[in-house]
Amino acid sequence: MQYPLGSEVKKDFPILSTILPNGKRLVYLDNAATTQKPIQVINAVADFYKFTNANVARSAHYLGEKTTIAYNDARKEVAKFINADYDEIIFTSGTTESINTVAYGWGDENLSEGDEIVVMTSEHHSDFVPWQQLALRKKAHFKVVPLREDGTIDIDTIKQYVSPKTKIVACAGMTNSFGVINPIEEIGHIAHKLGAVFVVDGAQSVPSMPTDVKQIDADFLSFSGHKMLAPMGIGVLYVKRSIIESLKPFLTGGGMIDEVKNDSTTFACAPDRYEAGTPNVEGAIGLATAIKYLKKIGMGRILEHERDLLAYAYEKLSSVDRVILYGPKDIEKRGGILSFNIKGIHPHDVASILDANGVAIRSGHHCAQPILRSLNVEFMATARASFYVYNEKSDIDVLVDAIEDAKRRFL
Ligand code: ALA
Repeated sequence: MQYPLGSEVKKDFPILSTILPNGKRLVYLDNAATTQKPIQVINAVADFYKFTNANVARSAHYLGEKTTIAYNDARKEVAKFINADYDEIIFTSGTTESINTVAYGWGDENLSEGDEIVVMTSEHHSDFVPWQQLALRKKAHFKVVPLREDGTIDIDTIKQYVSPKTKIVACAGMTNSFGVINPIEEIGHIAHKLGAVFVVDGAQSVPSMPTDVKQIDADFLSFSGHKMLAPMGIGVLYVKRSIIESLKPFLTGGGMIDEVKNDSTTFACAPDRYEAGTPNVEGAIGLATAIKYLKKIGMGRILEHERDLLAYAYEKLSSVDRVILYGPKDIEKRGGILSFNIKGIHPHDVASILDANGVAIRSGHHCAQPILRSLNVEFMATARASFYVYNEKSDIDVLVDAIEDAKRRFL
């Protein structure tokens, strides 16, 4: 039997039965910012501290061994999930640390003055600022590919931006601002043809759709646990085996060495080499548990479910006066993120009225200022509702009623 989605799955998420102080039922539509956690993940983390806790790969005692096995098993689960090998998976604190690990560890070692880094206008700041700063450090050119009005990428435009001097092409699998699913396989192909490495920000796409690093042919792929039912503070950096030796450790210290002498140090093999210090073991266990949970649902079904909700919301809102919807009209080009504005009302005000109706969304620039600036979005901000496995159509109905309420109050 298939694991359920929507209303039936809500029972696994204790927080979703919250009744807010104003008596409203919580309608959680801020999943692109972070997702809620099922009881299975909460229990796995609590059980780690109740029955397992010790440091990893250091202590030759019962709990030390148990912790090391659990941590290694978590890495195996993550590797399988994206069709990678065990030693291609580095645990980090999240996507931001993953991308900075590449920018400092690979970029600083491999870029020279005059080289180029190419990113899309729609990148999240965590896939934008590290590359911009790398370019400044190395006197490289930072090239930002403009997008179509609906936030989608035109492959021919990318072709004009890359050249034999391009060393890095970075692109999100799905944008966090408008939920656009990017043609990453094609972009990777263009990058590789010119000898560049291809860095995929999977923070938004990995939680919602099947990911196969071999099929994408990504050199680096990063994602965060907290956007896929796992705890905060755990993330992943996948590094393709053939280039892992060219990635210098960004953090040094305990746990990542082979031999330390007074004047020199040799490093451990990957992935330990890239995980200095005591790792976030409970986070890794929580992430592995979240992955098992998502696999029971089926990654293909998650995107389908998000699109069903998106299509339903789109249909209800596209005819509402003064509501502007961002992103492509073609639902097949999107995941479950709906960025919108009500003409003349600041999105923070919209979010406050929605909150009064029990609806949690995010408003603002979504850590993606370049795309909002390039499209001249009013207030340089949008309201953003984002859907995940536990959302259902009745949540969208509450959202739509709350939007009408915001209009009544402000217009
Ligand atoms: N990147 C997260 C968002 O899009 C925090 O809201």
